[in-house]
Amino acid sequence: MNYEAEWRMRFGEEPEAAPDLPDMPWLRQVLMRRTHRRYAERPVPETLLRLLLGTAFSASSKSDFQQATVIWVRDHPSRDRIAALVPDMPWIGNAPEFLVFCGDAHRLERIGKLRGHTNENGKLEGFFNAAIDAALVLQTFILAAETAGLGCCPISVIRNHADTVAEILGLPDKVFPVAGLCVGYPAAAGHVSMRLPLEATVHIDHYDERRLAEAVDAYDRRRDARYSLPREQQRSPDVFGYASFYGWSEDKARQAAKPEGQGFPTFLRRRGFCLD
Ligand SMILES: Cc1cc2nc3c(=O)[nH]c(=O)nc-3n(C[C@H](O)[C@H](O)[C@H](O)COP(=O)(O)O)c2cc1C
Repeated sequence: MNYEAEWRMRFGEEPEAAPDLPDMPWLRQVLMRRTHRRYAERPVPETLLRLLLGTAFSASSKSDFQQATVIWVRDHPSRDRIAALVPDMPWIGNAPEFLVFCGDAHRLERIGKLRGHTNENGKLEGFFNAAIDAALVLQTFILAAETAGLGCCPISVIRNHADTVAEILGLPDKVFPVAGLCVGYPAAAGHVSMRLPLEATVHIDHYDERRLAEAVDAYDRRRDARYSLPREQQRSPDVFGYASFYGWSEDKARQAAKPEGQGFPTFLRRRGFCLD
């Protein structure tokens, strides 16, 4: 069994022939997965959402520390306040459900106190472990939700307003938002976002970027052949001008040229982390 159609959608190129592989429909689904930002009016049943949360918290967890917490934002005024922070992403306010996935280094500290032990969880290692746990729970939730026919959109831009989000959600010290998540039944089919080839992202035995430039050029062309970014979507033309060919790599290089999240380290320090 080949996964040709799905592979072509994900990578824009032909897969290696693998006729002896069994058919695994869930892998087809994941190869075709996509973010959704527009949702049908249809509500998400509470029982389904709780099942998805249980599934999400089945994700692996570093040292079994279980340092993720989800805030399910059901209070409309709270949601509206979060949505108002990011007016150019109306899906935050419009999605049927909105959750915030947090890294939680606080709970382990409390457990230490309950058991009468000191706790060393406020350094970079504690922050990093909690961030990873939250990201794993987030992606497990997304894949579970997509399996149930739902669509999701993670929202990390809320980290640019971390203080206000923490105040709205009542987050204690050492609990930080990793990303919000819009959840609902998709209003449209959406489209598969093409990924870099495995040649660029999977290296055998040692790091190898010798063919990166060629791989990225070819990827830009494949992606552009499926969907060209229109001229008006070129980023910061006042700074960089207009490119005659504007591919993914030019877009991402321009995006990364602008600093983001500069306030986050200060937020983390104020919230009890020392990032050494
Ligand atoms: C950690 C994380 C944060 C994201 N933050 C945002 C966001 O703030 N707003 C948004 O519209 N999409 C956000 N996204 C969605 C990405 O833009 C999307 O996953 C990416 O374009 C690839 O598309 P795909 O998921 O359809 O393959 C985020 C995704 C991740 C994994």
